[in-house]
Amino acid sequence: MSDLRFDGRVAIITGAGGGLGRCHALELARRGAQVLVNDLGGAVDGSGSSASAAQRVVDEITALGGIAAPNHDSVATPQGGQAIVQAAIDAFGRVDVLVNNAGILRDKAFHKMDHTMIDAVIDVHLKGAMYVSQPAFTLMREQGYGRIISTSSASGLFGNFGQANYGAAKAGLAGLTRVLGIEGAAHGIKVNAIAPIAATRMTQDILGDQLAAKVSPESVSPLVAYLAHEECAVTGHVYSVAGGRIARIFVAETSGIVLADNTAEAIQSHLAQMDKMDVEDYYEPSSLEDQTTIIAKALAAVS
Ligand code: NAI
Repeated sequence: MSDLRFDGRVAIITGAGGGLGRCHALELARRGAQVLVNDLGGAVDGSGSSASAAQRVVDEITALGGIAAPNHDSVATPQGGQAIVQAAIDAFGRVDVLVNNAGILRDKAFHKMDHTMIDAVIDVHLKGAMYVSQPAFTLMREQGYGRIISTSSASGLFGNFGQANYGAAKAGLAGLTRVLGIEGAAHGIKVNAIAPIAATRMTQDILGDQLAAKVSPESVSPLVAYLAHEECAVTGHVYSVAGGRIARIFVAETSGIVLADNTAEAIQSHLAQMDKMDVEDYYEPSSLEDQTTIIAKALAAVS
């Protein structure tokens, strides 16, 4: 198997000043990519900003012999998205890969969530990914080549208490991935998403020491590198990834039924038949917590 290299390729990684984004940036740079390290440099809740986060990662990459440039624009506005893509063009002349990774949290039970918490989270995760993807996608279409990887979450795909804003945004990214996969197909553009679990500042105090020790952010980046590579064979897919365990998450439909008597009462009595899933080799997690338990078991089995 030959190394999957990125020589001559240019990658934008949003929110790459720490956590998962930093690891993706280091991994792609190690494999020869020229990397635009974008990060607003704020706190987990999105407050504040600082240029030093992105610069630190650029310095790390440069010290290892790689090529990188910093960018501090916010993904959360159309102007910010344009500026990020323009920064990659200015620094390196093209864009081959975009990793939508920037993110914040404003958790609260839905009945107590005020509209600023809804707007801030949807602006960064869902609109932010669209604002950066759109100018990048346009360039990729023109050049007939591109790779986009967005960061979804089990929170939205399976559900998690206190994350209505975040979960809705993250589930939206799975939809965006499907649509861009279809729209990009004729233009050499492949678009996929990951739903990671990793020990970062965002999950501090949530994962527990045992699981946290097994799910380093570094363990997510090989999947990102594969999906970002020219040889990536899939598009429109979403993968769960944690500590080296990777599984596909998909939206499917049961065989369904056609009711002669299409009434609410008949639906009530046929519910089990409508819901019946015939394929055996998959599991539908009932929540993020349920999925995390499965991942922890899978990882425990290999230690
Ligand atoms: P993190 O907080 O270390 O990284 C997020 C980065 O995004 C930060 O460096 C932050 O400054 C940057 N950022 C925030 N708002 C921005 C904006 N408007 N413009 C540019 N940059 C901005 O957390 P982590 O865990 O590395 O998160 C990375 C991504 O992975 C996020 O999208 C997160 O929602 C997602 N994720 C993480 C999981 C985990 O287990 N750590 C689970 C599921 C998803």
